[in-house]
Amino acid sequence: MPLPHHTDITDGLRLTPARISPKYFYDQRGSELFEAITRLPEYYPTRTETALMQWHAEDIARVIGPGRTLIELGAGNCQKARSMCRLVQPACFVGVDISADFLQSAVQGLRDEFPGLDARAVGGDLTQGIDLPDDIPRSGRLVFYPGSSIGNFDPPHALQLLAYMRALVDEDGGLLIGIDLPKDVAVLEAAYDDAAGVTAAFNRNVLTHVNRLIGSDFDIDHWQHRAFFNAQESRIEMHLESIQAVQVRWPGGARMFAPGERIHTENSYKYPLSVFTDMLARAGFGHAQAWTDERGWFAVVHARP
Ligand code: TRP
Repeated sequence: MPLPHHTDITDGLRLTPARISPKYFYDQRGSELFEAITRLPEYYPTRTETALMQWHAEDIARVIGPGRTLIELGAGNCQKARSMCRLVQPACFVGVDISADFLQSAVQGLRDEFPGLDARAVGGDLTQGIDLPDDIPRSGRLVFYPGSSIGNFDPPHALQLLAYMRALVDEDGGLLIGIDLPKDVAVLEAAYDDAAGVTAAFNRNVLTHVNRLIGSDFDIDHWQHRAFFNAQESRIEMHLESIQAVQVRWPGGARMFAPGERIHTENSYKYPLSVFTDMLARAGFGHAQAWTDERGWFAVVHARP
């Protein structure tokens, strides 16, 4: 059976420096490893976001109000959706995720827990624009984008994506979004390079997924995980670095990597709150209200048109 053409992958592999889009992290194993990352002691974002939302729960619930159509982008295991459903009591939940099968079973779990809830699973790649079913109500939408995932896009794309979220909602709609704030470099770097090596396994797993998608012959033992803070760009960078000279082949192409040469797999931008609310305003969300934890590590922002 011929493999479908993932020309974006092969194009990225031919670049210097090479890159692989982070969307390829999320095969079944990648989604599972990502879940494990969110439970790591070093990985503060998920835990901090959850705690601050619990701390400010009453306020958040009052600002949003019940009966909304909650649209979560990157819903994954629907763990956060579960808390949000308890908190804001939406009429309808739409989970969107690139890992469609993983999402399906999670959304079924939501239906079981909230019998009155109209819960839907939509498989889709945010960066390509998602196809929402026609019968999803337009009014009263709340787009929910937690976990600081907006930080995984470079600023121009992040702005585009925020504008896209603005287009998903009417005047009466809103956006609830999590952002990771700049902080001590050691704290940041440990979060993306944990002692147990889970983030390393997650990063390297992308090569296994790529092998399956394009028929390449990456040997993951030849690649090590690198994560560091780039202060100039205010971002954590993740790379895979070759341990030795390697040749990688795929049907129709090949690439040599020198020892120590890298493949850039992801960025995670850390925006100061004021920089981020400016971006929101440029995307058409003029009114923003933010909640943070007591250390000022993470913010959850509610934005309205
Ligand atoms: N958006 C989150 C972050 O940047 C989660 C995440 C995405 C992540 N890709 C990751 C976490 C890779 C660790 C490693 O923190």
